[in-house]
Amino acid sequence: MKIAISGKGGVGKTTLAALLAQVYAEAGRNVLAVDADPSPCLAGALGFPAEQQAKLHPISEMDELILERTGAKPGTIGGFFTLNPRVDDIPERFSVAYRNVRLLEMGSVDIGGSGCICPESAMLKTLFTHLLFRKDDVLILDMYAGVEHLGRATVDFVDAMLVVVEPTRRSLGTASQIKILAEDIGLTRLWLIGNKVRDEAETAFLASETPGIPLLGILPADMGVQEADRLGIPVYDHVPSLRKAAEDIALALDSQTSPKISNEN
Ligand SMILES: Nc1ncnc2c1ncn2[C@@H]1O[C@H](COP(=O)(O)OP(=O)(O)O)[C@@H](O)[C@H]1O
Ligand SMILES: [Mg+2]
Repeated sequence: MKIAISGKGGVGKTTLAALLAQVYAEAGRNVLAVDADPSPCLAGALGFPAEQQAKLHPISEMDELILERTGAKPGTIGGFFTLNPRVDDIPERFSVAYRNVRLLEMGSVDIGGSGCICPESAMLKTLFTHLLFRKDDVLILDMYAGVEHLGRATVDFVDAMLVVVEPTRRSLGTASQIKILAEDIGLTRLWLIGNKVRDEAETAFLASETPGIPLLGILPADMGVQEADRLGIPVYDHVPSLRKAAEDIALALDSQTSPKISNEN
């Protein structure tokens, strides 16, 4: 199962990514979480202790590795470098595990226009494609708003793109843009997740104002989320209402993405 999580900044992508990773890990699944946000913070949300976090380095900042694999120094434009460097050993070598969740940080690429051709972007693109081809039990991609990482060729491997929204028109506007981008590359398995929802009226608002993305689940607004952040512990451990909501989302995802059982024979 490959789950990509997208949405406007601050809506709760990282919170959801961490919750789902821990729900699946707790269920005994083999989880690889990938932080593809330019300012990574999934490790903190997962409660990685400081000494584990110190072992994590974004792939995009590994200049020596990028030079070794692509044949060019990061930041060089023009010149020659390979567009499909070797990346198959990277998830094992550079991910760090804590409580049955393995985490890999991609880091950011300074994208000067979406068609940027530089060694580090060649590296990240190849790595991204490689991750989608892997046979991990559960792959969770914490992305930012765009879907530019997901090229047409990789779309078939994403089982679900979760678009996180708050009950506001602004975040629904971003969801609508994501839907258009996703449709452009042929990605149709999109579901909406409402976060920071305070009451039934807000759930109804999301259900009626969705830009045509089916609403899969709701995470309640809970002050415990900020408290968990201040205490440096995962929301999964500290906020039962959110853990329960994430468990429901995982169940809903499993039933939506697993092949339908036919009654016909
Ligand atoms: N259900 C929730 N209730 C209350 N606060 C939340 C909830 N979900 C997220 N937050 C808060 O919203 C902020 C952004 O969350 P985060 O998961 O980092 O968003 P993103 O990854 O989309 O930028 C954080 O300060 C977080 O504590
Ligand atoms: Mg985030």
